[in-house]
Amino acid sequence: MTARTPLIAGNWKMHGLRDDAERLARAVVDGCSDLSDREVLLAPPFTALDVVAGAVRGSAIYLGAQNVHWEDHGAYTGEVSTAMLRDVGCSHVIIGHSERRQHFGETDANVARKVRASQASGLVPIVCVGETAAERAAGTTLEVIARQLHDGLLGPETTAIASLVVAYEPVWAIGTGEVATPDLAQAVHAFIREVLAGLFESQAAAGCRILYGGSVKPDNVDELMKEPDIDGVLVGGASLDAKAFLRIVRFA
Ligand code: PGA
Repeated sequence: MTARTPLIAGNWKMHGLRDDAERLARAVVDGCSDLSDREVLLAPPFTALDVVAGAVRGSAIYLGAQNVHWEDHGAYTGEVSTAMLRDVGCSHVIIGHSERRQHFGETDANVARKVRASQASGLVPIVCVGETAAERAAGTTLEVIARQLHDGLLGPETTAIASLVVAYEPVWAIGTGEVATPDLAQAVHAFIREVLAGLFESQAAAGCRILYGGSVKPDNVDELMKEPDIDGVLVGGASLDAKAFLRIVRFA
Protein backbone atom coordinates (compact mmCIF):
# COMPACT_ATOMS: atom_id res chain seq x y z
CA MET A 1 0.00 0.00 0.00
CA THR A 2 1.19 3.49 -0.79
CA ALA A 3 1.95 5.55 2.32
CA ARG A 4 -0.01 8.78 2.40
CA THR A 5 1.14 11.48 4.83
CA PRO A 6 -1.90 12.74 6.76
CA LEU A 7 -2.90 16.32 5.98
CA ILE A 8 -4.88 18.41 8.47
CA ALA A 9 -6.17 21.61 6.95
CA GLY A 10 -7.93 24.52 8.63
CA ASN A 11 -10.39 26.42 6.44
CA TRP A 12 -11.02 29.67 8.27
CA LYS A 13 -13.65 30.81 5.75
CA MET A 14 -14.63 34.50 6.17
CA HIS A 15 -13.36 34.78 9.73
CA GLY A 16 -10.52 36.67 11.28
CA LEU A 17 -9.08 40.15 11.17
CA ARG A 18 -5.32 40.23 10.73
CA ASP A 19 -4.45 40.43 14.43
CA ASP A 20 -6.65 37.43 15.31
CA ALA A 21 -5.30 35.54 12.31
CA GLU A 22 -1.71 36.15 13.28
CA ARG A 23 -2.35 35.07 16.88
CA LEU A 24 -4.11 31.90 15.81
CA ALA A 25 -1.42 31.04 13.29
CA ARG A 26 1.33 31.54 15.87
CA ALA A 27 -0.49 29.28 18.33
CA VAL A 28 -0.76 26.58 15.66
CA VAL A 29 2.93 26.93 14.77
CA ASP A 30 3.91 26.59 18.43
CA GLY A 31 1.62 23.62 18.97
CA CYS A 32 2.92 21.72 15.95
CA SER A 33 6.65 22.26 16.27
CA ASP A 34 7.35 18.68 17.39
CA LEU A 35 5.30 16.95 14.66
CA SER A 36 6.97 15.48 11.61
CA ASP A 37 4.68 12.63 10.58
CA ARG A 38 1.79 14.79 9.35
CA GLU A 39 1.22 17.96 7.38
CA VAL A 40 -0.73 20.96 8.65
CA LEU A 41 -2.17 23.70 6.49
CA LEU A 42 -3.93 26.98 7.29
CA ALA A 43 -6.28 28.66 4.83
CA PRO A 44 -7.13 32.16 6.11
CA PRO A 45 -9.12 34.77 4.17
CA PHE A 46 -7.20 36.62 1.43
CA THR A 47 -6.68 39.71 3.61
CA ALA A 48 -4.87 37.67 6.29
CA LEU A 49 -2.66 35.60 3.96
CA ASP A 50 0.23 37.99 4.34
CA VAL A 51 0.33 38.04 8.17
CA VAL A 52 -0.23 34.29 8.37
CA ALA A 53 2.58 33.78 5.84
CA GLY A 54 4.81 35.73 8.23
CA ALA A 55 3.66 33.69 11.22
CA VAL A 56 4.31 30.31 9.57
CA ARG A 57 7.61 31.28 7.91
CA GLY A 58 10.38 28.95 9.06
CA SER A 59 7.87 26.34 10.31
CA ALA A 60 6.51 23.28 8.52
CA ILE A 61 2.97 24.73 8.32
CA TYR A 62 1.61 25.21 4.81
CA LEU A 63 -0.37 28.22 3.68
CA GLY A 64 -3.44 27.89 1.47
CA ALA A 65 -6.03 30.19 -0.04
CA GLN A 66 -9.76 29.48 -0.22
CA ASN A 67 -10.29 30.32 -3.88
CA VAL A 68 -8.44 31.50 -6.98
CA HIS A 69 -9.16 32.73 -10.50
CA TRP A 70 -7.95 30.78 -13.53
CA GLU A 71 -6.61 33.71 -15.56
CA ASP A 72 -3.08 35.00 -14.91
CA HIS A 73 -4.09 38.67 -14.78
CA GLY A 74 -6.47 41.07 -16.46
CA ALA A 75 -9.74 42.89 -16.05
CA TYR A 76 -11.37 40.57 -13.52
CA THR A 77 -12.50 42.87 -10.73
CA GLY A 78 -12.44 41.25 -7.34
CA GLU A 79 -10.44 38.19 -8.38
CA VAL A 80 -7.03 36.90 -7.29
CA SER A 81 -4.63 34.96 -9.53
CA THR A 82 -2.42 31.95 -8.88
CA ALA A 83 0.72 34.12 -9.22
CA MET A 84 -0.64 36.45 -6.53
CA LEU A 85 -1.20 33.50 -4.21
CA ARG A 86 2.30 32.21 -4.88
CA ASP A 87 3.68 35.69 -4.31
CA VAL A 88 2.12 35.91 -0.84
CA GLY A 89 3.47 32.48 0.13
CA CYS A 90 0.68 30.01 -0.65
CA SER A 91 1.50 26.42 -1.56
CA HIS A 92 -2.11 25.17 -1.72
CA VAL A 93 -5.54 26.42 -2.71
CA ILE A 94 -9.02 25.11 -1.89
CA ILE A 95 -11.12 24.81 -5.04
CA GLY A 96 -14.82 24.08 -5.50
CA HIS A 97 -15.85 24.30 -1.85
CA SER A 98 -19.58 23.67 -1.58
CA GLU A 99 -20.14 27.17 -0.22
CA ARG A 100 -18.69 28.53 -3.46
CA ARG A 101 -20.84 26.16 -5.49
CA GLN A 102 -23.96 27.07 -3.45
CA HIS A 103 -23.61 30.83 -3.02
CA PHE A 104 -21.34 31.94 -5.86
CA GLY A 105 -22.31 29.77 -8.80
CA GLU A 106 -19.08 27.75 -8.91
CA THR A 107 -19.44 25.08 -11.61
CA ASP A 108 -17.46 21.93 -12.36
CA ALA A 109 -16.16 23.64 -15.52
CA ASN A 110 -14.80 26.52 -13.41
CA VAL A 111 -13.28 24.03 -10.99
CA ALA A 112 -11.45 22.39 -13.90
CA ARG A 113 -10.05 25.74 -15.07
CA LYS A 114 -8.94 26.65 -11.56
CA VAL A 115 -7.31 23.26 -10.98
CA ARG A 116 -5.38 23.51 -14.23
CA ALA A 117 -4.22 27.09 -13.56
CA SER A 118 -3.20 26.22 -10.00
CA GLN A 119 -1.13 23.24 -11.02
CA ALA A 120 0.50 25.19 -13.85
CA SER A 121 1.67 27.71 -11.28
CA GLY A 122 2.86 25.11 -8.78
CA LEU A 123 -0.03 25.40 -6.31
CA VAL A 124 -1.50 22.16 -4.97
CA PRO A 125 -5.29 22.23 -5.46
CA ILE A 126 -7.55 20.79 -2.75
CA VAL A 127 -10.64 19.96 -4.76
CA CYS A 128 -13.87 19.66 -2.77
CA VAL A 129 -16.68 17.34 -3.74
CA GLY A 130 -19.78 16.24 -1.88
CA GLU A 131 -23.51 15.70 -2.10
CA THR A 132 -26.33 17.77 -0.61
CA ALA A 133 -28.88 16.30 1.79
CA ALA A 134 -31.42 16.16 -1.05
CA GLU A 135 -29.00 14.32 -3.33
CA ARG A 136 -28.25 11.80 -0.58
CA ALA A 137 -31.97 11.32 0.08
CA ALA A 138 -32.53 10.77 -3.64
CA GLY A 139 -29.82 8.09 -3.70
CA THR A 140 -27.62 10.01 -6.14
CA THR A 141 -24.59 10.59 -3.89
CA LEU A 142 -22.12 8.51 -5.89
CA GLU A 143 -23.39 9.79 -9.21
CA VAL A 144 -22.95 13.41 -8.06
CA ILE A 145 -19.45 12.78 -6.78
CA ALA A 146 -18.39 10.90 -9.91
CA ARG A 147 -19.61 13.83 -12.02
CA GLN A 148 -17.83 16.41 -9.84
CA LEU A 149 -14.58 14.45 -10.13
CA HIS A 150 -14.89 13.77 -13.84
CA ASP A 151 -15.89 17.28 -14.88
CA GLY A 152 -13.72 19.05 -12.30
CA LEU A 153 -10.53 17.15 -13.02
CA LEU A 154 -10.73 16.42 -16.73
CA GLY A 155 -10.73 19.74 -18.52
CA PRO A 156 -9.13 20.27 -21.92
CA GLU A 157 -5.90 19.47 -20.09
CA THR A 158 -5.93 16.69 -17.56
CA THR A 159 -5.11 17.32 -13.94
CA ALA A 160 -1.77 16.08 -12.66
CA ILE A 161 -2.92 13.64 -10.01
CA ALA A 162 0.52 13.57 -8.37
CA SER A 163 -0.08 17.07 -7.01
CA LEU A 164 -3.75 16.88 -6.17
CA VAL A 165 -5.68 16.59 -2.93
CA VAL A 166 -9.38 15.71 -2.93
CA ALA A 167 -11.70 16.62 -0.05
CA TYR A 168 -14.97 14.79 0.47
CA GLU A 169 -17.31 17.21 2.20
CA PRO A 170 -20.93 16.12 2.37
CA VAL A 171 -22.84 19.41 2.27
CA TRP A 172 -25.27 18.26 4.97
CA ALA A 173 -22.34 17.82 7.39
CA ILE A 174 -20.73 21.24 6.90
CA GLY A 175 -21.23 23.54 9.85
CA THR A 176 -24.18 21.48 11.08
CA GLY A 177 -22.54 19.37 13.79
CA GLU A 178 -23.87 16.35 11.90
CA VAL A 179 -20.64 14.51 11.06
CA ALA A 180 -20.67 11.60 8.62
CA THR A 181 -20.14 8.29 10.38
CA PRO A 182 -16.67 6.83 9.79
CA ASP A 183 -18.28 3.95 7.84
CA LEU A 184 -20.20 6.23 5.57
CA ALA A 185 -17.20 8.50 4.96
CA GLN A 186 -14.93 5.50 4.32
CA ALA A 187 -17.36 4.09 1.75
CA VAL A 188 -17.40 7.37 -0.19
CA HIS A 189 -13.62 7.80 0.09
CA ALA A 190 -13.07 4.30 -1.31
CA PHE A 191 -15.46 5.17 -4.14
CA ILE A 192 -13.56 8.42 -4.85
CA ARG A 193 -10.31 6.45 -5.05
CA GLU A 194 -11.95 4.02 -7.46
CA VAL A 195 -13.14 6.88 -9.68
CA LEU A 196 -9.65 8.45 -9.60
CA ALA A 197 -8.15 5.10 -10.61
CA GLY A 198 -10.49 5.07 -13.59
CA LEU A 199 -9.74 8.67 -14.59
CA PHE A 200 -5.99 8.40 -14.08
CA GLU A 201 -4.35 5.13 -13.12
CA SER A 202 -4.60 2.98 -10.05
CA GLN A 203 -1.13 3.54 -8.62
CA ALA A 204 -1.53 7.31 -8.81
CA ALA A 205 -4.98 7.03 -7.26
CA ALA A 206 -3.52 4.96 -4.43
CA GLY A 207 -1.12 7.80 -3.65
CA CYS A 208 -3.70 10.61 -3.77
CA ARG A 209 -4.78 12.03 -0.44
CA ILE A 210 -8.50 12.21 0.21
CA LEU A 211 -9.55 14.40 3.14
CA TYR A 212 -12.86 14.27 4.97
CA GLY A 213 -14.59 17.55 5.87
CA GLY A 214 -17.84 18.38 7.64
CA SER A 215 -18.17 18.98 11.39
CA VAL A 216 -14.77 17.48 12.23
CA LYS A 217 -14.17 18.06 15.95
CA PRO A 218 -11.71 16.90 18.63
CA ASP A 219 -14.18 14.21 19.70
CA ASN A 220 -14.76 12.60 16.30
CA VAL A 221 -11.43 12.95 14.49
CA ASP A 222 -9.81 9.83 15.98
CA GLU A 223 -12.51 7.50 14.68
CA LEU A 224 -12.52 9.11 11.24
CA MET A 225 -8.74 8.90 10.92
CA LYS A 226 -8.79 5.16 11.64
CA GLU A 227 -10.47 4.52 8.28
CA PRO A 228 -8.04 3.32 5.62
CA ASP A 229 -9.05 5.77 2.89
CA ILE A 230 -9.36 8.88 5.09
CA ASP A 231 -6.00 10.60 4.71
CA GLY A 232 -6.69 13.76 6.63
CA VAL A 233 -9.36 16.30 7.43
CA LEU A 234 -10.53 19.70 6.22
CA VAL A 235 -11.73 21.55 9.30
CA GLY A 236 -13.95 24.64 9.31
CA GLY A 237 -15.43 25.83 12.61
CA ALA A 238 -13.07 23.92 14.90
CA SER A 239 -10.01 25.35 13.11
CA LEU A 240 -10.79 28.80 14.52
CA ASP A 241 -9.97 27.64 18.03
CA ALA A 242 -6.27 26.85 18.54
CA LYS A 243 -6.88 24.29 21.27
CA ALA A 244 -9.53 22.40 19.31
CA PHE A 245 -7.54 22.52 16.09
CA LEU A 246 -4.34 21.33 17.75
CA ARG A 247 -6.23 18.42 19.29
CA ILE A 248 -7.49 17.51 15.81
CA VAL A 249 -3.95 17.78 14.44
CA ARG A 250 -2.90 15.34 17.16
CA PHE A 251 -5.49 12.74 16.22
CA ALA A 252 -4.79 9.35 17.76
P1 PGA B 1 -17.05 22.64 9.33
O1 PGA B 1 -16.62 23.09 7.84
O2 PGA B 1 -15.88 21.91 9.92
O3 PGA B 1 -17.36 23.91 10.05
O4 PGA B 1 -18.24 21.75 9.18
C1 PGA B 1 -15.84 22.26 7.02
C2 PGA B 1 -15.59 22.94 5.68
O5 PGA B 1 -16.49 23.58 5.16
O6 PGA B 1 -14.48 22.85 5.13
